[in-house]
Amino acid sequence: MKILVVGQGGREHTLVWKLAQSRRVEKIYCAPGNAGIAQIAETLPMPDRFTDLADWAESENIALTVVGPEAPLAEGIVDVFSERGLKAFGPDKRAARLEASKDFAKQLMLENGISTAEHQTFTDVEAAMAYIEDQNRPVFVKANGLAAGKGVIPGRTFKEALQAVKTILVDKAFGDAGDSVVIEEELIGEEASFTVLTDGSHCLPFVSSQDHKMSHDGDTGKNTGGMGAYSPAPVITPELHDYVMQHVVYPTINGMADIGSPFKGVLYVGLMITDTGPKVLEFNCRFGDPEAQVLLPRLKSDLVPLLIACIDGTLADHADVQWHDEAAACVVMASGGYPDPYQTGEIITGLEDADAIEGVSVFHAGTTHDGENIVTAGGRVLGVTAIADGLHNAIQQAYKGVSAIHFNKTHFRNDIGHRALKKS
Ligand code: AMP
Ligand code: GLY
Repeated sequence: MKILVVGQGGREHTLVWKLAQSRRVEKIYCAPGNAGIAQIAETLPMPDRFTDLADWAESENIALTVVGPEAPLAEGIVDVFSERGLKAFGPDKRAARLEASKDFAKQLMLENGISTAEHQTFTDVEAAMAYIEDQNRPVFVKANGLAAGKGVIPGRTFKEALQAVKTILVDKAFGDAGDSVVIEEELIGEEASFTVLTDGSHCLPFVSSQDHKMSHDGDTGKNTGGMGAYSPAPVITPELHDYVMQHVVYPTINGMADIGSPFKGVLYVGLMITDTGPKVLEFNCRFGDPEAQVLLPRLKSDLVPLLIACIDGTLADHADVQWHDEAAACVVMASGGYPDPYQTGEIITGLEDADAIEGVSVFHAGTTHDGENIVTAGGRVLGVTAIADGLHNAIQQAYKGVSAIHFNKTHFRNDIGHRALKKS
């Protein structure tokens, strides 16, 4: 069959890489893709309108479209494809609200008894300020809508929280995504990512993972899309896994079905493991990036039938999914300056040397071709990933891969997996 993948990041490179291993797949296309994806798939420009892409998919007999990022999901790409009878993996527009509206997600959690930070939503600055004053404790201030992972601002002091509200509601730093703000209590604990595939009623959990959101070592610096990830995450014990499935995942999926908006696709639950149990920080309606880079290499089974089963509502028939026992680690190599402004167009060398290291796969994010060269084209440039016996070895191999690769002003964290290594 022919498959189309939508997106251009490290997550999409990993999806294309995994799908290409399926015996059922004869050809993969990716819109718009990147330089790494272009080595294993045919890339095409992403049209402005989903209907144009659906026209193209129809004419090319694309059997399955896999949508990587949240933005097209929230804008209804799956609705456009499904209306034409084209199979597209991911939630429809209404279901994607779980990520696209933090207020919607919070309401769903409240109505279904899912544990999360106490919160209130505001459109009015004065009312938000009064709430913060009344709280008199550290809060997190969040743009309600999609803000490319940047719309969350800590408000640990009164002044910081007020400034965050102004940035979002008045300065409109995140555009329409900041028409309202969610203000919530700060949760203390260790974070973990919990990912499941779902067909709207049945859920198939992935192995556990954890990412590193802050830009610099020791979890300092700024919040980013993610500077690295590893799997498994020892913080998710088997007991915690069962608890999250029973008290978070199924109540969410059932809650969505109950309101007539069944959620099909990837549900990614961002959790804070607090002293009083796991609490939901956020829902995402797609694979995490860079979590996908460590989750998909650990999946031994063919991904294609699983994705199709999510669309067809037959995921319960796939209880026999197989995983590799090896651990996986991904170190993100970014452009110096990221997440603030950075330069692009830097020539990247050593990619093949890194790929040749045992267990290492280099997944591209912000890369493009410039003549003969592969050059940087984004903030997160590469996700150097390794799979090996035990986390310690996986991390070591990933860093060997990083040492083989060069571009000007590279920035990466040196401590990916530090929490897990402390536990082992
Ligand atoms: P989100 O996009 O909502 O996951 O927020 C991005 C990051 O901000 C999370 O991964 C956490 O590190 C942090 N964060 C968000 N909400 C809270 C909270 N209520 N308490 C503590 N940290 C938070
Ligand atoms: N790595 C976090 C995310 O994909 O949202």
